[in-house]
Amino acid sequence: MAKYRIGLGVTGGIAAYKAVEVLRLLQKADCDVSVAMTRHATEFVQPLTFRALTDKHVIVDDYDPENPDPIAHINFSQEIDLLLIVPATANIIGKFANGVADDFLSSTYLATTAKVMVAPAMNTTMWEQPATQRNVTQLKADGVHFVEPVAGELACKTVGTGKLEDVENIVKQAISLLVQGPKSKAPSQEQVVETLDIGHGTLDLKGEHFLITVGGTREAIDPVRFISNHSSGKMGFAVAEAAAVRGAKVTVVAGVTTVDPPANVKVIRAVSAEDMHAAVKAEIANATVFVGAAAVADYAPANAADAKIKKDGRDVMTLELKKTPDILSEVSKNRHDGMLVVGFAAETNDVVGYARSKMEKKGLDLVVANDITKAGAGFNTDTNIATILTRSGGEIELPLMSKREMADRILDEIVRLRKG
Ligand code: PMT
Repeated sequence: MAKYRIGLGVTGGIAAYKAVEVLRLLQKADCDVSVAMTRHATEFVQPLTFRALTDKHVIVDDYDPENPDPIAHINFSQEIDLLLIVPATANIIGKFANGVADDFLSSTYLATTAKVMVAPAMNTTMWEQPATQRNVTQLKADGVHFVEPVAGELACKTVGTGKLEDVENIVKQAISLLVQGPKSKAPSQEQVVETLDIGHGTLDLKGEHFLITVGGTREAIDPVRFISNHSSGKMGFAVAEAAAVRGAKVTVVAGVTTVDPPANVKVIRAVSAEDMHAAVKAEIANATVFVGAAAVADYAPANAADAKIKKDGRDVMTLELKKTPDILSEVSKNRHDGMLVVGFAAETNDVVGYARSKMEKKGLDLVVANDITKAGAGFNTDTNIATILTRSGGEIELPLMSKREMADRILDEIVRLRKG
């Protein structure tokens, strides 16, 4: 008996071919999948492909004489636990959001009582259009779950947000949603981990406990002013999410971030470098892997004023700064047996050179070196470009990719280190 019954809806975008891989992964995760397609989707992928893989009729049009079930949109919609749309075009999102039911898939959406998850894929301009975003907001308010599109190079050769999320992540999020069941509370870490085993060792971090610093810090000058940086937390949270999905227990010490933490991780807030240092000290004993993704201030005002510093007509204000605790170095120096320590290096020139010297000075196992001046890399971007340095002298080039994909690549190197 299959674990879950999934209605896979395929719509007419260039990413339609990826629905085949989603189907295969769902079947590997012991799901029973039925496929429906919009007429436009059949321009990109033949229904026969899905029929061969599911051994079931692929529904495009209710009224197709070949369709064995004249009220398929009712039966199909009632016999699934999840309606998963991959890819979801702006058109189908608009139809769902406005109750348009002029084809099989849009009728099925209105007729189903199952959970619904959509994975959008489209040109960045289309994705960012107010009309599209209005429809997305409406669907989220209606309870539809989204696998957010990622940033990267799109089929139309532009770079930006709109690319279909990685197929394995789509499947992991779909299964994770199903694990929650109709009424149960959010799945426990173990439940999600057990269910997400879709082959190829994707639970390769089970048993690890990650401690990750994320985001920027704020160093007070006085009660009004502070010194900070541009870190959004996206990179660190991406590592946290990827590690949790691959089976690790994850604790995040988060400074100032502009995005929300992922699900299934423990979050400890720490605003200043001192706060972050104290939080890491309190948590490090249980960690098997430490990742320093945060942009921690190297210096902070030596004496933060208790009251707002008055200008008094001064043209120049001089601040005396003192060094902050180097969290990464301290963790590395005091590591317990078997712990892996991974650092990041945010550089503007001689990136690999500076990163390698950091690795040697701090005794790190891996360093992720990113040039924060490169377009699409560094602070507050959805993408990054980096080089992973290993202690054995290796350099793994990571070209422009989403931070979520980069996170998986970093974890792949951690798994490689573990395997020796
Ligand atoms: O958060 P995003 O907007 O996604 O941006 C991601 C990022 C650019 C912040 C990230 O990719 C990154 O490069 N993080 C490290 C930023 C940084 O402070 O680099 P650094 O070269 O100054 O520090 C080197 C290492 O020491 C880092 O692992 C840092 O976390 C750590 N450090 C630094 C100072 C300090 N007092 N304690 C530390 O632990």
